[in-house]
Amino acid sequence: MERFKVAGGARLAGEIAVCGAKNSALKLMAVALLAEGRTELHGVPRILDVELMAELLRRLGCDVELDWTPGPEREEGPQEGSTLVIDVPAAPGTEADYDLVRRLRASICVLGPLLARRGEAKVSYPGGDAIGSRGLDMHIDGLERLGATISQEHGFLVASAPGGLTGGSILLDFPSVGATENILMAAVLARGTTVIENAAREPEIVDICALLGAMGAKIDGAGSSTLVIEGVDELRPAPSPHRVVSDRIVAGMFAVAATMTRGDVRVAGGRAGHLEIALDKLTQAGATVVSDESGFRVSMDRRPKAVDIITLPYPGFATDLQPLFAAMNSIAEGTSMVTENLFDARFVFLQELARLGASVRTEGHHAIVRGVERLSGAPVRATDIRAGAGLVLAGLVADGYTTVSDVRHIDRGYQGLVTQLRSLGATIEREPDPDPYP
Ligand code: EPU
Repeated sequence: MERFKVAGGARLAGEIAVCGAKNSALKLMAVALLAEGRTELHGVPRILDVELMAELLRRLGCDVELDWTPGPEREEGPQEGSTLVIDVPAAPGTEADYDLVRRLRASICVLGPLLARRGEAKVSYPGGDAIGSRGLDMHIDGLERLGATISQEHGFLVASAPGGLTGGSILLDFPSVGATENILMAAVLARGTTVIENAAREPEIVDICALLGAMGAKIDGAGSSTLVIEGVDELRPAPSPHRVVSDRIVAGMFAVAATMTRGDVRVAGGRAGHLEIALDKLTQAGATVVSDESGFRVSMDRRPKAVDIITLPYPGFATDLQPLFAAMNSIAEGTSMVTENLFDARFVFLQELARLGASVRTEGHHAIVRGVERLSGAPVRATDIRAGAGLVLAGLVADGYTTVSDVRHIDRGYQGLVTQLRSLGATIEREPDPDPYP
């Protein structure tokens, strides 16, 4: 077990590059299962979650090559991300076990592709995680609409469609990212037309549609709330490598870091169009944001002003940026209201922020954050990926040293965070945790 030791007080300045999005790369790896042969992905983040997904695919009989060594060395390497090659056999396995699924919830996204390709799949039920209860009802209802039979047995979701899947109409109760992806990845090989209404519109979904299209799938409406999928008999691997869409959550983190530290950071490869509300909020906080086609730059010369945020599905304000904005509001001038609509337990993080001196009160899914002049460094614990990033940013502006334990959470989602923050002038290091027990 390791922790990050962060010194407060540095002003971040310089340029970093953003890698491909975790939440796209993991799903693109599942998309590869839909065709026999070799799929090459570029810009893949060197993170623990990708290594776990690679392991899961290997257990399904795929050959997966990463161009980095799993473990601490993943910190070094191109900032833009790395290359990953997946070679899928004619008949991949159909079972994903609990030991991996519980460590990587995103592995539930192999359910749709395996069902479509093999007519059966048995995927461990992932269970809850630190950010709250996360249902699968929409995944299951949607796949059942395509003709699958799904039951829960001994901790597994057991799905079958021996005669193949058939297109159908699905109206999602909520634009769930995971349900949209699972249904989409099953529908591309179903007989006939599938319509998914109230579909998620995230840039990562558009990215998945782009790779599926290059493999021969017929999809209309990517990026809108209605996806129309014309099933085809077979997909083939994309003829050329696919570059993973840039990670808007990582880009957003550097934008908030620049604002909090009164810095000046250029985020090369950051897509301002994918962060519209977040960057607008930083402007309201007092930052200057300038974007062009190759990235954006955020600079700040004063204490930020508090901004209210409300998390919503894309294009609304991303829940994955909520802890970072809560950290910014904790040192801002004024009081703000932070409303979390997606994940019920994401406010657990605020208790850690309070250990650094933040003034926070929660009422259900609202938090009132009263900005204080200064935070005071202390030992804190990352409770999930985004909470971990929020605590690192808080540490950058707190007096003295902050240690953030349980960095395995941060390693799940941020490639080379220590190296990148150091290159911008931060004092941060990874060290063994003398008190590793949660
Ligand atoms: N939900 C249900 N039933 C379902 C599906 C979802 O009740 O069948 C609920 C969930 O419990 C949650 C809400 O709907 O309250 C949103 O869930 P959604 O399915 O949209 O999210 P997800 O697919 O589980 C992905 C990302 C999250 C990101 C959310 C929202 C991946 C691997 N995860 O989760 O990312 O916060 O979309 O944008 O893509 C992270 O990277 O730290 C992370 C948590």
